[in-house]
Amino acid sequence: MVKQIRQTDGPRHIAIIMDGNGRWATQRGRPRLFGHHAGAKRVREIVEACPDLGVKYVTIFAFSTENWKRTQTEVTGIMNLFRRYITQEAQALLKENVRVRFIGDRLRLDKKLIKLMAELEDMTSPCTGVNLTIAINYGGRDEVARATKRLAQEVRDGHLDPEDVNEETLTRFLDTHVLPDPDLVIRTSGEARISNFLLWQSAYAEYEFVDTLWPDFSAQELAKLVTSYGKRERRFGRVLA
Ligand code: FPP
Repeated sequence: MVKQIRQTDGPRHIAIIMDGNGRWATQRGRPRLFGHHAGAKRVREIVEACPDLGVKYVTIFAFSTENWKRTQTEVTGIMNLFRRYITQEAQALLKENVRVRFIGDRLRLDKKLIKLMAELEDMTSPCTGVNLTIAINYGGRDEVARATKRLAQEVRDGHLDPEDVNEETLTRFLDTHVLPDPDLVIRTSGEARISNFLLWQSAYAEYEFVDTLWPDFSAQELAKLVTSYGKRERRFGRVLA
């Protein structure tokens, strides 16, 4: 069924807000971190499903600039999970020809994690399959603020004329500058919010909010959403005849 989808009809770039790990764990009487571990395992299945669905880019929201407000135990647990994920998944990602990138402000992250992230980016840089982008300490507003700061420095240093600043110029300073805009944004767990994810980039994206908690989200459900996306008419502000 998946293979019948014509690639031109499908989303090229899918962004996912992986929500519901905590509730999934609580429903099972387990600590929230148990849910995050289950959530991390889902990532592989979803990424591996992408080539058959014609999806070339997948961007996942793993930790937001607001998530630091969680308990110290949860934050430390999630950071340890990222380190473990990178170490354990690196070979599988390479074998699957997945190119990994990270977006978000790295400055606040642990040095060891920053090093692992950079190594995984380097290691997978020759990969030509799916582009997996993982957002860690990412916030859409923070990204635009950081981009604006760098842009202002270019102006101050005489490398950029304020007259030349437009949407395209600002886009070049964003963390996502090498990625196309997302076509489809999916949020799991029944919440209908975008929570500061890819605000600038998702201006014309289609949205899907599904009730499934992230650790239960499957490749089959993704395939259904991709099919349903193919039936939508994207107008980008135009009126189509
Ligand atoms: C949202 O669920 C999930 C997070 C804030 C953390 C996301 C992390 C993962 C899915 C695992 C790690 C991913 C990688 C790439 C290793 P929640 O805690 O907000 O759930 P709740 O709304 O039910 O409380």
